[in-house]
Amino acid sequence: AMSSTERPRAEVAVIGGSGFYSFFDEGAAEVELVTPYGSPSAPITVGEVDGRRVAFLPRHGRRHEFAPHAIPYRANLWALRTLGVQRVFAPCAAGSLLTDWGPGTLVIPDQLVDRTSGRTQTYFDGGGIHVQFADPYCADLRKAALRTGTVDGGALVVVEGPRFSTRAESQWFARQGWSLVNMTGHPEAVLARELEMCYATIALVTDLDAGIDAGDGVRAVDVFAEFERNLGSLTSLVHKAIAAAPEGPCDTCRVHEGATLPIELP
Ligand code: ADE
Repeated sequence: AMSSTERPRAEVAVIGGSGFYSFFDEGAAEVELVTPYGSPSAPITVGEVDGRRVAFLPRHGRRHEFAPHAIPYRANLWALRTLGVQRVFAPCAAGSLLTDWGPGTLVIPDQLVDRTSGRTQTYFDGGGIHVQFADPYCADLRKAALRTGTVDGGALVVVEGPRFSTRAESQWFARQGWSLVNMTGHPEAVLARELEMCYATIALVTDLDAGIDAGDGVRAVDVFAEFERNLGSLTSLVHKAIAAAPEGPCDTCRVHEGATLPIELP
């Protein structure tokens, strides 16, 4: 691990989902950071992809120590921003609410519905800061992730977990016209926005959710196995997305322009 004086810098970050625990083959620096919100899920590795400086953080920890509701989301995003990260790709496993989008489908959602409860979703306990979140994902970053073989759009509903949804809940989500369900998409997206980092989710469909599939219901072992099966195509998409990501920060995600913040951002 490096001390803070020799901290590497990164421009783009990847937050790996369940089963996505490492990103660089070799030559990556490892950084252990402590933030005002505690330690991130794991040490962050910083390496290079296509000439871009990239930071990788496994969302659930290196051995999946953190359940979705127990992930240190604030520490994770804060630590990435400390390294200079301006753009975040967020791969994740998701259940599908559409029969047409079966396991293995890669989806770049365009909306988010928060069905979590009790998760801290802000850095700003001091009043007066209410970030724009009408479009939760960065348009530029979504475009970079939309490569051949990916599906554009859909609303990701984020449930509290760690249990899967009941059939009735799942049917209700589907009837609302939402297309994906997972447990980690919130508050990660809004915390990135509060730190003015561009953010886009890359969802890998691992299962048809309980209201869609008439079978026994979603099982975690099947979700992990399906993620594992598609890790190669997910990783290759993330590489292409990084290469296509615009350089420098994006104007639309700079939501604090002109505001006086109650805390200093890293
Ligand atoms: N993550 C992967 N599949 C899921 C599902 N069906 N529901 C919630 N989170 C998931």
